[in-house]
Amino acid sequence: MVTPLNPKLEEALPEKDETAGIEKPLRLLKHVPEDPVPLLELANHSIVSSRQFTAEQVVQLTRLAAKHEAVPQQARQPLVGKILISAFYEPSTRTRLSFESAWHRLGGDIMSITDPATTGIAKGETLKDVGEMLNNYGDLVVLRETNNKAIYHMLEGLRIPIVNAGNGTDEHPTQALADMYTIFKWRPVLMDKNISEMKRARIGIVGVPATMRTVRSLLYLLALFPNSFEDVVIICNEKNVFSPGQLDNLNEMGLQVRVAKDLNAELPNLDIVYINSIAWIGDDYKEFGQNYVLDTTSPLKKNAIIMHPLARGKELSTHLDDTPHNWYFAQARGAVFIRMALLTCLVQHNW
Ligand code: CP
Repeated sequence: MVTPLNPKLEEALPEKDETAGIEKPLRLLKHVPEDPVPLLELANHSIVSSRQFTAEQVVQLTRLAAKHEAVPQQARQPLVGKILISAFYEPSTRTRLSFESAWHRLGGDIMSITDPATTGIAKGETLKDVGEMLNNYGDLVVLRETNNKAIYHMLEGLRIPIVNAGNGTDEHPTQALADMYTIFKWRPVLMDKNISEMKRARIGIVGVPATMRTVRSLLYLLALFPNSFEDVVIICNEKNVFSPGQLDNLNEMGLQVRVAKDLNAELPNLDIVYINSIAWIGDDYKEFGQNYVLDTTSPLKKNAIIMHPLARGKELSTHLDDTPHNWYFAQARGAVFIRMALLTCLVQHNW
């Protein structure tokens, strides 16, 4: 018998969404019943890839995030006395600050490392040994690294959970959770297994699945809900769109993905436009798709939403900020609440 997270919560839900912004977390919260069982399986686990999640976990994590966002007055502080080791060896605004904000809101303390040169790594210490040391100093590690394999090396020495906050060109699983949270708040029916064909969404992703970690991780989560998306189109002008086996994996999960080059030809059909700007490739950021720009003259559907997971460049006009297409600010805001949900599940077993 599993006890609900808070048996009285359903009675206490407010009638109206009081949260600021375009998103309506209360709609998501009311759309799906609470089921803590899939979340219990996450306790004390590390999160390296989006592929670790089930559809049920994604739904319940977004529901828990919506609870944090919609009814903050019900918030407890389950991480009092717990220490986060926040290790970002690559620049970050959204991910580091939303992780740290989430941990603070849950009552925990933080040790932040933003430069590996201030640790033993500068003296040749292995990541496995650093992991062994971190076991003694904190309760969970969040790591951003330019090297795809660094998180796996650190895992060899770790006994506390680690969360991948972006490993080179490989994955960014918690960004993908933030993306799904945004999509489900916009249209909660997309969480339903038996969604009617009429209610499915069309999503266009401007980016390169082979080399962009945001796109790689998002595609794996979209593939958990293959019936919810009528069309998934990758918009790019690259020779190598997918890494070896990537498209086969997605197809095996039931997600059909097509590729197109002409953004403006696709826009009139898209409900969700997910645009990327830059990717960490090799040893530096590279701008992507200078020819792909969204502005107020773009042929967007009237109700289309725009999402953008990264630092904005020329690809997204600020003139779109004050339009209903702007869900990118909501996406960044929601990242705090989805990370609160995830961190609670990883660290705190007995909510
Ligand atoms: N979403 C994301 O990775 O952004 P930052 O680089 O600002 O963390």
